[in-house]
Order: sequence, then structure tokens, then C-alpha cells
Amino acid sequence: MKNFVSVHDVNDIDSIVAKALAYKKNPFVDKTLGQNKRIGCLFLNPSMRTRLSTQIAAQNLGMEAIIFNVSSEGWALEFEEEAIMSGVTVEHVKDAAPVFGKYFDILAIRTFPSLKNKEDDYSELYIKQFIKYAGIPVVSLESATLHPLQSLTDIVTITETFKETRKPKIVLTWAPHVKPLPQCVGNSFSQWINAWGKADFVITHPEDYDLSEEYTKGATITHNQNEALKDADFVYVKNWSTFKDYGKIYESDPKWMLTNKKLEITNNAKVMHCLPVRRNVELSDEILDGPNSIVTLEASNRVWAAQAVISEILKSNG
Ligand code: CP
Repeated sequence: MKNFVSVHDVNDIDSIVAKALAYKKNPFVDKTLGQNKRIGCLFLNPSMRTRLSTQIAAQNLGMEAIIFNVSSEGWALEFEEEAIMSGVTVEHVKDAAPVFGKYFDILAIRTFPSLKNKEDDYSELYIKQFIKYAGIPVVSLESATLHPLQSLTDIVTITETFKETRKPKIVLTWAPHVKPLPQCVGNSFSQWINAWGKADFVITHPEDYDLSEEYTKGATITHNQNEALKDADFVYVKNWSTFKDYGKIYESDPKWMLTNKKLEITNNAKVMHCLPVRRNVELSDEILDGPNSIVTLEASNRVWAAQAVISEILKSNG
């Protein structure tokens, strides 16, 4: 594995899931793999789980992890080629990324979208510029459009939890929120579940909240949440802002929030959310504090997914 920015960087999803679950059983089995190597984790946006789980994963492999909160501690970076830097940006990624490439063996980056210009965000300019100029493997810690470490974790969690021999029914449901949020988690979850191909996958959202077909193609899509939830084994809850008329909030009807009453329609479904979650807006207290929620397990599994990815990169890049 050279980089890890989407599902396309993974040859075999089941094999990397198995690797993550093996690390969960034996976290220190490869404790010397990353000896004398460093991962630089650059955060252009806030994080709790991604930051800590990546750091722990690297340390489990004997690797030093250095966290750099670029947005609050670093120079403002410019990403456009041929930019005339007479505004607020101080350093071009062309100059900064090669330096990171000398300091680190792997570069991991979080860069959220602006939600102002769809073409710009979906071009993934920021992460592509780091790949172009750093000269070392790059791992996405959530980019403008995708969150692959989260999605790998989600399949790890589903695999670990679902014990039946049949395919699970997995429902991705939109939920209300007070702010326009990126489509990253919904896009990425759809991309990975479709590529995995081992589930009956249904996506439900209000009208005008379609995600990009690039990621959802292959899933059943409905605006009827109750119909979607019927017999579900897993319900993945997430808000996202509109994709077509980009970055807007059209709908905030609390009826879209998952409750215990709605859970009765499901097959006693496990409820997932990547966190952070707005309680009683996106997800009800009764669900989050109830027996069906597996959000803490899911968040804890971020370590093993990150460890599997870093390990693959270390092994393939010497
Ligand atoms: N799920 C997730 O990426 O969490 P953080 O934003 O806290 O890293």
C-alpha cells in the first residue's frame, strides 16, 4: 500500500479487516515494525478520535507519532499552483510538503472541505498536493470528501459484531443537524460498503440529500426511513449537507432522528455513529445510552484500523 486515501488503496477489504482484528487481539505483535520511524499527523481541522487512535496505533508498532495542529500552530498554507501569495497564506504546500517528507516516514493529514465550492472540494486538491510534493506515503485522516479510516473501522466493527452466516442488512440514515456538515462520512461509508459487497445496503435520506452517485451506486436508496429500517441489522446514523445545491441545510425535521420506537421496525439493529454526535438532535439519548448503541466499540476500533493501515504501509515501503 503506497497511500491510504480511499477504498481503492486496499486490495482486499476482508484481509485488512482481519489484520485489524488480529491487532485488537494482540496489539504489540509488531511492536518493532516501526522502530526508528516517524509518522507526522497534520491537523488542519479539529479531531479527538482520529488524532488519538492514530497516535496509539503508531506507538503500538513502535513508531513515533508527532502531531502538528497546522490550523492553530502552523503557517497558513497555500495549495493553488502559481498562486500570487499576497493574501493570508504564508507558505506554499510545494515548499512545506517536501520538508515534511524529510522529517517523517509517513504523513497523515486531516483537511475538511470548505462546503462553499463543490468542484474545489471534490477535486481533493489539498490531499493531492501533499501526495504530489511530500514524496512519502500519505494517509487521509479525513479529507474533503472521504473518511477512509472511519469506514474501515466501521466494517471492522460490523464484522466483529455480526455473527450470522447470512448477509447483514445495513442502513445508512441521514439525521438532522444544526450546521451544514461534510458528506465525507456518508460518501466513504457508502463507497466501502459497496466495494465490500457483503451486505444488503440501503441508504435513506430526505429528498434533495442525495450523495454523489460515484459512492452510492449499488445501494438501494429511499426517502422513506421507516421502509429502509425494516429488518435492519445495523443502522448507521449520520448527518450530511446537500450535495447538489452544495453545502446547504434543506431539512431539519426531528422526525428523522432515530428513536427506540423506530428501532422496533429493525431486527434489533446495532446503532452506529462515527462521533462526535449532537445528542437529541442527530441521535436520541435513549438510543445512545441504550443496549443497541455500539458507538463506543466503534470508536475504540479506530485504533486497530489505523494500526492495520500503518502496518501495511510500513511493510510495503520498507
Ligand atoms: N470520527 C472521527 O473522525 O472523530 P474525530 O473527528 O474526533 O477524529
